[in-house]
Amino acid sequence: MKLPIIAYGDPVLRRKAIAIEPVEYPHIKQLCEDMFETMYAARGVGLAAPQVGISMRLFVIDASVFDDDEPELKDFKKVFINAQILEESGNEWSFNEGCLSIPDIREDVSRKPNIKISYYDEDWKHHEETYSGMAARIIQHEYDHIEGKLFLDKLSPLRKRLLEKKLNDISKGIVDVEYKMKFPAVKKGR
Ligand code: NI
Repeated sequence: MKLPIIAYGDPVLRRKAIAIEPVEYPHIKQLCEDMFETMYAARGVGLAAPQVGISMRLFVIDASVFDDDEPELKDFKKVFINAQILEESGNEWSFNEGCLSIPDIREDVSRKPNIKISYYDEDWKHHEETYSGMAARIIQHEYDHIEGKLFLDKLSPLRKRLLEKKLNDISKGIVDVEYKMKFPAVKKGR
């Protein structure tokens, strides 16, 4: 089932998400399936639970579209539960990022290239792994979501000022978008 994606301006995107206990959430696999379906329909490569209105430490990633440049990403489809980035290293590199909650805005964002991360998969198996390049970048972007952060936070104050009007419009639903969204500043019942 496709879920509506929460747009910029909704407080759920700014909340630090809480860890999930297996007993509290027996239907996690169904939620992951729904999140993948939602993400593919919106042509995204990652989606975090807060973006569908659920403040939990969960995100899904499918980076296989980048396998032309990085062949090791061919089957990179993963679920990250209760992720903790343990280490980030290397010299920051810049990449033009977008976000399904902030349609129509893409900006260069600098991040470190290597990460070490601990997480559980959808079978509650624990992993501790290192990633670099595009995989690390997508994980960092999604990880920010469960920490209540957005890529906009990494832009210069000037850049942010220039985007202000556009961001306001997005929260009001004044944006062209081909997938279903929920806009925080649109009054219900009208
Ligand atoms: Ni995003």
